[in-house]
Amino acid sequence: MSYPWLRSDGRLRHLITLDGIPVAVLNRLLDAAQAMAVHAHGGLSLRERLAGSTLCTLFFEPSTRTRSSFQLAATRMGMDLLNFDVTNSSVGKGESDRDTLATLQAMGVDAFAVRHSRDGAVAALAQAASATTVLINAGDGRNAHPSQGLLDMLTLRQAKGSDFSGLRVVICGDVLHSRVARSDIHALRALGTGDIRICGPENLLPDDDVLAGCSVYSNFDDALDGVDAVIMLRLQRERMTQGLVSSLEDYSRAFGLSPERLRRAAPDAVVLHPGPINRGIEIDPAVADGPQSRVLQQVSNGVAVRMAVLAELLGR
Ligand code: NCD
Repeated sequence: MSYPWLRSDGRLRHLITLDGIPVAVLNRLLDAAQAMAVHAHGGLSLRERLAGSTLCTLFFEPSTRTRSSFQLAATRMGMDLLNFDVTNSSVGKGESDRDTLATLQAMGVDAFAVRHSRDGAVAALAQAASATTVLINAGDGRNAHPSQGLLDMLTLRQAKGSDFSGLRVVICGDVLHSRVARSDIHALRALGTGDIRICGPENLLPDDDVLAGCSVYSNFDDALDGVDAVIMLRLQRERMTQGLVSSLEDYSRAFGLSPERLRRAAPDAVVLHPGPINRGIEIDPAVADGPQSRVLQQVSNGVAVRMAVLAELLGR
């Protein structure tokens, strides 16, 4: 299947998913983000870059990192910014997503970063958008979180170099509900990662073709053996009420990343987590704050990646 989100000139039209993204596009975004990383935390040099364009953050679900980094990315490239407050908007009166989009478009918004609880909601809005509006999926349901996938790849590249073919990566936790895991798997696959391991309790693993080509483990110790990178996922505790996990203690014992367990990985292995972290549940604070952790570097990279995405989509 060809990737449907490109323009005829090969540039990205919208950022909806990394599933099927051409590796050349993925690497172009990562190269651009790497080049922008030095400017991502302030300074004036990119302030003219996207001046005159407007970004709207349209978040139907809570967020700390993703929303804030889109705001900062836009500001640092000179864009006007509209932080749309869904909770106090006419969405509460029943206004549809499409009418909300059309309304904000009519005010001159050029780009929307949208987070939504429903799988496919952002792709649907992209189909409804005007010819010049660009949509960025900031996380839809359990489907995709492409800018997170990009920042995770940038973080891995900085630690391990840009040849992913010999890389052994394990993703552990609540994979079933994780849009981050899906976008990471899509990106790792596009980059030709040699060994992608997926680990978690059987009832928290997806059974669709996202796992094609991955090795699946139910024993975390086995899955960690010799890996170069560990991507931990948040145990989505809102699912606990559904009885998907027997107890936090059992989960933590089987799938928590402790300093002892991390010794099974390669000595220079890095640890990633998209945040927010449940300290002491999926990750021991000594690991989260330890020398192998790249958690805050991921956050920093998030700003650079979102700057690169905005520049690619808005084409300047
Ligand atoms: C994630 C999300 O919302 O998908 N957070 C993030 O964007 N960094 C992961 C999560 O909520 O567990």
